[in-house]
Amino acid sequence: MPNVKDSIFLKNLRGEPTDRTPIWIMRQAGRYLPEYMAVREKLSFNELCRTPEAACEVTLQPIRRFGFDAAIMFSDILTPLEPMGAPFDFSKGGPKLERPIRSEKDIRALHTYDAEEGTNFVAAAIKLMKAELGDKTPLIGFAGSPFTLASYLIEGGGSKDYINLKTMLYTRPELLQELLDKLGDQTLAYLKMQVAAGVDAVQVFDTWGGILHPADYVKHVLPVVRKIMDGLKDTGVPRIYFLKGSAPYNHLIKDLDVEAFGVDWTQDLTMAIDQMGGKAVQGNLDPLCLFGSEEEIRRRALEVCEKGAKASGHVFNLGHGILPKAPISAVETLVETVQGFRRS
Ligand code: CP3
Repeated sequence: MPNVKDSIFLKNLRGEPTDRTPIWIMRQAGRYLPEYMAVREKLSFNELCRTPEAACEVTLQPIRRFGFDAAIMFSDILTPLEPMGAPFDFSKGGPKLERPIRSEKDIRALHTYDAEEGTNFVAAAIKLMKAELGDKTPLIGFAGSPFTLASYLIEGGGSKDYINLKTMLYTRPELLQELLDKLGDQTLAYLKMQVAAGVDAVQVFDTWGGILHPADYVKHVLPVVRKIMDGLKDTGVPRIYFLKGSAPYNHLIKDLDVEAFGVDWTQDLTMAIDQMGGKAVQGNLDPLCLFGSEEEIRRRALEVCEKGAKASGHVFNLGHGILPKAPISAVETLVETVQGFRRS
């Protein structure tokens, strides 16, 4: 009987030897897939995230098509904010919050909730996904880091300069901290709920943690990430921390109690492995490399595999999410190359 615990994805996260490198890619379920677009014709993005059967279907699509070594539950980092009183609209290209969260009153009005109730549709989706994936393919759960979530709440959507967030940081840091602590408690409860529902690993996405001076990162971002990761330790599931733009912070995060670090494509993987010694790494091909020639994709993917093989564990991934325009044939080339690589 195969056991999902023996999958090469989980083995690499635990630092156990495997003869090949597992691969999954961030945003593997998404708009570059025609079968995803077909589902989206019938359901809005928010409906899709809140309908367990549909979320399960799109989670499985890239597994069926490419045979990735791990599935990631379909949802969004912003989905658990709605029950706090902050619903996002995705219909206008990029997430938009009706009323940004900027004052003390706004922050106090956000309410923490019982994750089993407020996000019961996520638990239901995870149970369906686990039943479909069986013992072959592990399922990754995830959440946004409190800082990344706060950036969307304060700006009301994406931002080029984070003017509102930084204004809060430089005028009322205690208010920003209050928001981060509240999001931290909710995020820990949300991830524990996912583990109870059956996910085999969790990833915390910190897309915007890298926009701060390292001293501010250490003061405001790192402690709440640490609290979440420490709070998950007893669950026994491997924890992955993906901080985009982490290069200037690698020496600051290396002692976090996690099993693996996600590495973006702006850093040399060997350097990142040296700086975050002892932990498994996940990454780190430039998502734009998928627009290169087949030969270039193969060459660069093998280079990442060779470098990753020197870490205690390596999970191949892109350095950030795949773009909607990425060619399917490029993903096929990538998966074939990585799954064909043998560690010596
Ligand atoms: O990886 C997966 O396949 C699982 C699903 C997943 C989505 N978003 C689906 C999605 C995951 C893990 C995310 C994470 C996420 N969402 C992050 C962190 C990682 C990163 O990419 O930096 C962030 C910052 C978000 C917030 C978000 N969601 C933005 C900024 C947008 C709009 C911009 C964009 O890329 O379209 C989304 C929407 C979104 N989330 C889509 C998908 C497939 C596209 C929505 C659509 O179908 O129209």
